[in-house]
Amino acid sequence: MTDLSRGLAGRTAVVTGGAQGIGAAVAERLCAEGCRVVVYDRSAEHGESVVEEWRRRGYAAHLVVGDVSDAAAVKAAFTDLPVDWPRPTLLANLAAGFVFKGLEATPGDWHAVLDPTIVGLSLVIREFVAGLPERDANAAIVNMASISAHIAQQGYLTYNTSKAAVLGFTRCTAQELAPRGVRVNSVSPGTVWNANNERFHREVLGLDRATAEADPENGGKFLLGRFADPAEVAAPIVFLLSTEASFITGADLPVDGGYLAV
Ligand SMILES: NC(=O)c1ccc[n+]([C@@H]2O[C@H](COP(=O)([O-])OP(=O)(O)OC[C@H]3O[C@@H](n4cnc5c(N)ncnc54)[C@H](O)[C@@H]3O)[C@@H](O)[C@H]2O)c1
Repeated sequence: MTDLSRGLAGRTAVVTGGAQGIGAAVAERLCAEGCRVVVYDRSAEHGESVVEEWRRRGYAAHLVVGDVSDAAAVKAAFTDLPVDWPRPTLLANLAAGFVFKGLEATPGDWHAVLDPTIVGLSLVIREFVAGLPERDANAAIVNMASISAHIAQQGYLTYNTSKAAVLGFTRCTAQELAPRGVRVNSVSPGTVWNANNERFHREVLGLDRATAEADPENGGKFLLGRFADPAEVAAPIVFLLSTEASFITGADLPVDGGYLAV
């Protein structure tokens, strides 16, 4: 009989930025798939709240509070795991710097966006692979890019550069890690309706979700005419981590309601 399992149950997954938004949806979905899930996030408040809720539901969830750009904290996160959990073989990298500036960006602004999104990514992946066997690791990594990695957007120089770098980072690490049996991919979502986007649209644009989605310059730019919910991005991330994606590496998957198609 064909084995339809997704090869996720019983494995340990690490989700950076897993305390809120899309990362929390990824962590929750991995829990539901039977993974043991480490949430690595700098927000103790949000991290404790989601991890407690998932434990109440019987999920195996563990919080490590730290910044992805803090090398010592990242190292500790991979060494101080619950003793009976297997070594992590699944990794979803969602923590990122959110700095939206043009050429006026200062060196400090560039550090604020590139330290978490690129330097942090390198630290987390380095510690993740340090614990894997030299060959046949059967491990998978998904990095978070964005439609912003593929296009120009006024005033988004810092953010879009950081997300474009995620694409290059993904391809190069896919090449470097393939001999060890580690697949590396990225996803490029469009606008995902989370607490931050709800606040931005309400406070800055004065729009609720339905009005923003109906605006030709906003939601109308997506072929599907709407924004995504976090679970709609979590599902393809978990697919790329699963054995269903066993022949996919070095790829970027748009999860954008058709934004990049036109
Ligand atoms: N929301 C969108 O529309 C959208 C679209 C495309 C891509 N993305 C990307 O998806 C990812 C998640 O975005 P979101 O909108 O869900 O964000 P969010 O703000 O809801 O959640 C981000 C989480 O990351 C944590 N975090 C931030 N910096 C960190 C750091 N340096 N170290 C550890 N944790 C850190 C935060 O505490 C938070 O819990 C980001 O990479 C973002 O660029 C978001």
